[in-house]
Amino acid sequence: MKLNHPALIKSLQTAYSAEKAASFAYIGHAKSLKDKTQVARINEIEQDEWEHREHVLTIMLEYEIPVSKYLEIKYHLIGKIIGFSCYFIGEFMPYFFAGKLESGNVCEYFIMMKYFHTLGIHKHDEILYEMGVKEKEHEDYFLDCVREARWLPLFETIFNWGVKHSYNDVDLADIKPVNQATEYCKNYKVEK
Ligand SMILES: [Fe+2]
Ligand SMILES: [Fe+2]
Repeated sequence: MKLNHPALIKSLQTAYSAEKAASFAYIGHAKSLKDKTQVARINEIEQDEWEHREHVLTIMLEYEIPVSKYLEIKYHLIGKIIGFSCYFIGEFMPYFFAGKLESGNVCEYFIMMKYFHTLGIHKHDEILYEMGVKEKEHEDYFLDCVREARWLPLFETIFNWGVKHSYNDVDLADIKPVNQATEYCKNYKVEK
């Protein structure tokens, strides 16, 4: 079965390639760190991103959605550049920008769920929910890493992410169940 939903197809293709960029970035980030506990956590997050890529690919294969060569090359380069930059930009920035990126990723999976629902497809709800929630855990981890940093107030003002700003409305302390998850991310547009 093929999907008649260009926005959903594009989001799946982008997520597939962007998960690789995230994994590459975390490989660089982990290598630039000395603290073993932090390295272990970043390695874990890197593994989560590889798993997300696999899950997204499984969905794409089911609907015969091709992997975009353009996005694969683009995100390959982005991931490598970010990973490499972690050696030079100090301790704060890799955590801050990882958190900001993860914050934006959370809604991607909830919006995919809404897109699928417009086609009457609900069978991917669990996995999309699981990935969205996992991205939120990543965001919260990175936020905790920079919460006390003296640079945070300035970066939060400029980049609009930090203690008071997030790119999603998910709260792990009061998480909605999967059947209410489409209530999240309402500010994002669902196209058909
Ligand atoms: Fe991910
Ligand atoms: Fe993530």
